[in-house]
Amino acid sequence: EIVHAGGAVALPGFVDLHTHLREPGREDAETVETGSMAAALGGYTAVFAMANTDPVADNAVIVEHVWRRGREVGLVDVHPVGAVTVGLKGEKLAELGTMRRSVAEVRVFSDDGHCVHDPLIMRRALEYTKSFGGVVAQHAEEPRLTLGAQAHEGANAARLGLAGWPAPAEEAIVARDCLLAGHTGGTLHICHVSTEGTAEILRWWKSRESAGRVSAEVTPHHLLLTDDRLDTYDPVNKVNPPLRGDADVLALRQALADGTVDCVATDHAPHAAQDKDCEWSAAKPGMLGLQTALGIVVQTMVRPGLLDWRGVARVMSERPAEIAGLTDQGRPVAAGEPANLVLVDPEAEWTVRGAELASLGENSPFEGMQLPGRVVATLLRGRLTAHEGKVRR
Ligand code: DOR
Ligand code: ZN
Ligand code: ZN
Repeated sequence: EIVHAGGAVALPGFVDLHTHLREPGREDAETVETGSMAAALGGYTAVFAMANTDPVADNAVIVEHVWRRGREVGLVDVHPVGAVTVGLKGEKLAELGTMRRSVAEVRVFSDDGHCVHDPLIMRRALEYTKSFGGVVAQHAEEPRLTLGAQAHEGANAARLGLAGWPAPAEEAIVARDCLLAGHTGGTLHICHVSTEGTAEILRWWKSRESAGRVSAEVTPHHLLLTDDRLDTYDPVNKVNPPLRGDADVLALRQALADGTVDCVATDHAPHAAQDKDCEWSAAKPGMLGLQTALGIVVQTMVRPGLLDWRGVARVMSERPAEIAGLTDQGRPVAAGEPANLVLVDPEAEWTVRGAELASLGENSPFEGMQLPGRVVATLLRGRLTAHEGKVRR
């Protein structure tokens, strides 16, 4: 088959360290299959499926199921993330070794949906993952500071009468876990960095000569949107961590440009219509991300001159692959090797329509926006998985 790609930019296939696929449990919001379609269309060749499924991916049965479904669908490499703790309360360490023995691909452990709250569990998880070169991914939130809080603490939350989710709720955990990573020599990945203060803590930590490696991701929505969107109670703007202020957005772009924040991860969080078309307080937090990530990165980073295309490859593919220990992704194609790559038309623009995205959920905060940078084709191990906006299987 001939792919016409005049003027296109070739990049290694994107790697998303943070995707919610909702299978098992909420197959009305997303499945491994529909999420894989969205990933291929968005230029991704690998995604990490977060553990807050129902039941939680805290055991071998669930991680095996997600891993097997990803293989059967075959559009993108689906890497299951194992939960650090058992169930949703997060009080007891899960049997990390059992999960890893059943699916050797499990390299990343996390407790997304609620952070690894207990510092002793965090310490043990860092020590365990260190034993095989794995990573603990931390949803950075001190839950005692965000109890009942639903929006960034500031004027907009106050005007709408929403309780505030303060920046220290994130920054306290980031600082704590950097110190624990240093102490244990383990490897920590900070999910969805959202505040200027977190960027400063990371910059300080990375400037130190110390044991323990720390990496961090930022979402496309935190690179573009601010809590100015909170002029009404539209639940499409509800997300954890919340949309922050202008200074935070600018600091996050700068931190991504200078490597303080390593990569972009989508936190793709599809929700069924009834969980978004409802009152703010009842709505679930989260936004679609897989098909719009590239466009937002081009708009917020490439167009203003903060990243060149080499930089896009670094933050969308190379660094996430390195962080997760993938050796077959995130690098240029060697001669004769089946390619994991994405071809991008840097000039083409397209308009986001949530209903037309491959995800079952339609909760895109970018509805109606015109985004630059269109995926022409995605190839997984040399096989076309998406071409001109259509999935190929
Ligand atoms: O907005 C969010 N949605 N943040 C999270 O941490 C979890 C995610 C979800 O699972 O919907
Ligand atoms: Zn999270
Ligand atoms: Zn998440």
